Order: sequence, then C-alpha cells, then structure tokens
Amino acid sequence: MIELPRIGDPSLGYISLMQDGDPALPFAVKRVYWTYFTPNHVERGNHAHLRLEQIIVAVSGIIDFTLIDRKGKRQEFTLDTPDKGLYIPGGYWREIRFSHNAVLLCLASDIYDEGDYIRDLNLFLKSES
Ligand code: TYD
Repeated sequence: MIELPRIGDPSLGYISLMQDGDPALPFAVKRVYWTYFTPNHVERGNHAHLRLEQIIVAVSGIIDFTLIDRKGKRQEFTLDTPDKGLYIPGGYWREIRFSHNAVLLCLASDIYDEGDYIRDLNLFLKSES
C-alpha cells in the first residue's frame, strides 16, 4: 500500500498525484483506465496478469481487493481514501468488490493485451512465473 501526497486543506480540497521519478512508481505508465458504476453485488477481476504492473487508487468510494499469489496465499486490501494506492506486481490473481459509488483508477505499465491475462484460477496456480 502506497501513501500518496495530499496537497491542500479542508477549506480548499486536496490534490493527490503520482509522477515520473517517484520511488513509489516503479514503472513507466503506458495506460490509464478507470472503472465506475459497478453494482455492489458484482465481483470483478477474477484474473491474473503475467507481467503487467499496476497501481490502483479508489478516487471515490471503497474498493476491496483480494490478491492471491501462485502459492495460493491470499491478502486482503481495502482502498477507502483517494490518497492511498495499491501496487500490484505481475503474477497476482485479483478479486475486486466495489461500493456503489466507487471509481477505480488504474495506472498500468503496458497497453491492453489479452495475452497477458490468465482468467482461470487453477491454471494460474499451476503457472510458472
Ligand atoms: P477486465 O480487465 O477483464 O476487467 P475487470 O477485471 O474489471 O472485470 O476487462 C473487461 C473488458 O474490458 C474485457 O473485455 C477487456 C476490456 N478492456 C479493454 O479493452 N482495455 C482495457 O484497457 C481494459 C482494462 C479492459
């Protein structure tokens, strides 16, 4: 989990950011995407990326992540403030749940490539890094 800068005060509001050269941003950003209007009974994700690295921010709402590594070890993370980011290296299965107002912002190390996905958990757990 990454603490992001929080510039401002309650009377003005805040700016948080990541930029090239930040030690907490260990890759060059090649894609930015955001997801929204996800009903809160829906679980998204359910895939792993082989190489893609990501930093995820809940710019609004609350987002719960379960990450599973190739050994099957589970870790839970809650993103509930826009000044926190979750760094996900390659090689993690993810399951994601959203509050109804959640907006997920993703900074990604590469452009979209379906070939980088594993969408079967058993295949992922048997896969080589
Ligand atoms: P996916 O990554 O499976 O989303 P989630 O894990 O949130 O359910 O993507 C959903 C669909 O959107 C899938 O058909 C691929 C498409 N997509 C793109 O075309 N480009 C992108 O950058 C992303 C993230 C998804």
